Amino acid sequence: MHENVEKIMITEAQIAKRIEELAAQLDRLYEGRKPLVVCILKGSVMFFADLLRQMKTSVEMDFMVVSSYGNGTVSSRELTIKKDLTMDIFDRDVLLVEDIIDSGNTLYQLKKLLNARRPASLNIITLLDKPQRREVPIEPEYTGFVIEDEFVVGYGLDYAEEYRNLPYVGVLKRSVYEK
Ligand code: PRP
Repeated sequence: MHENVEKIMITEAQIAKRIEELAAQLDRLYEGRKPLVVCILKGSVMFFADLLRQMKTSVEMDFMVVSSYGNGTVSSRELTIKKDLTMDIFDRDVLLVEDIIDSGNTLYQLKKLLNARRPASLNIITLLDKPQRREVPIEPEYTGFVIEDEFVVGYGLDYAEEYRNLPYVGVLKRSVYEK
């Protein structure tokens, strides 16, 4: 275990098992169709890659970089697109892949923006969900794990860009971010 990790919250094996289950559900959902699966960079990269390798459905991939920020009030939050999709999603079955939903602001805004492009369907899958932190109403169609409000890193998730390549989801030691 990494020296700055307090405890492992979700092991590599637990992640792999859950991904197999989710991939099977998505294969049933998209049977006979070819969804466009969108990785919301950077945090989702591990989940995206592992999930797609377990799916048997023929898919296409695209990537987005967004950030949601505001001046304190929820209603003033704005979504900045730092890298947009390269593909046209009109009439496509789109699956957004996220690593974590926290306040929900990012996906709330992103969903609104992408729905305006008139996809045939738009679903959200997230590896982790922290429902206690929600500020806006957004519910993913598929969730890997519902977790408590703890500072998690690993398997794509960072603290100051570090820890993304840990193979598990761990709780970061308080001393790391409180110093
Ligand atoms: C994280 C995560 C979500 C968002 C969730 O991304 O990947 O996109 O924050 O938070 P919210 O529900 O409160 O909006 P981040 O902006 O940290 O970028 P990263 O994926 O590159 O680490």
